[in-house]
Amino acid sequence: MMNTLKAIAARRSIRRFQDRPVPRELIEQVLAATVQAPSGKNMQPWRFVVVEGEKRHEMVSIMRDAIAKVKEAGGDPGSSEWTANCMEQAPVTIFVFNGESVDDAPENVMNVVHVQSIGGAIQTMLLAAQELGLGTLWICDVFYAYEELRAWLGRGDQMVAAVSIGYADEAPGPRPRRPWQEVTEWLGD
Ligand SMILES: Cc1cc2nc3c(=O)[nH]c(=O)nc-3n(C[C@H](O)[C@H](O)[C@H](O)COP(=O)(O)O)c2cc1C
Repeated sequence: MMNTLKAIAARRSIRRFQDRPVPRELIEQVLAATVQAPSGKNMQPWRFVVVEGEKRHEMVSIMRDAIAKVKEAGGDPGSSEWTANCMEQAPVTIFVFNGESVDDAPENVMNVVHVQSIGGAIQTMLLAAQELGLGTLWICDVFYAYEELRAWLGRGDQMVAAVSIGYADEAPGPRPRRPWQEVTEWLGD
């Protein structure tokens, strides 16, 4: 078993996936690990919707339609087209919702707590998937199709992110990081 520090260092965002399904049992194991994450007041605000197999084509076409609208309106689609391609390749995408969200009001203090809890759960999900031999991509480009995807998924609560999962078809090297010394201040003796 990989030790935790090695696993953290070895994780990469994966943007190329093999055309190979992931057994349902592995996704269940990933979810079982994910819900062991800590959460504010142990409220476990996370909710998941797993999109797999052929259903993902509907998801990707919703993304692409929304991105086309952004472009038609003269907006910048950022990296979203590339992300949609990754989501098309990945056999599984898990949407992560905030089941405790208050009328979608991110400024609500408890909502800030819940979104932190969900962020921790997502990182737990990525590391669990890695341990099981799976590659992952944490995705916020789903926000380009926020309302459209929520409607398609039948959800009224806050969409926080999506995570695409599959067998990696690339082995990228480490992406740059600011050294911790540069982002840390010390107070004390
Ligand atoms: C909150 C969040 C949102 C992200 N959204 C996207 C995304 O929509 N598309 C994408 O390709 N990568 C996305 N990423 C992945 C980042 O680009 C990636 O983590 C970063 O470039 C560092 O690369 P690494 O994960 O391989 O270390 C996201 C990561 C986080 C944490």
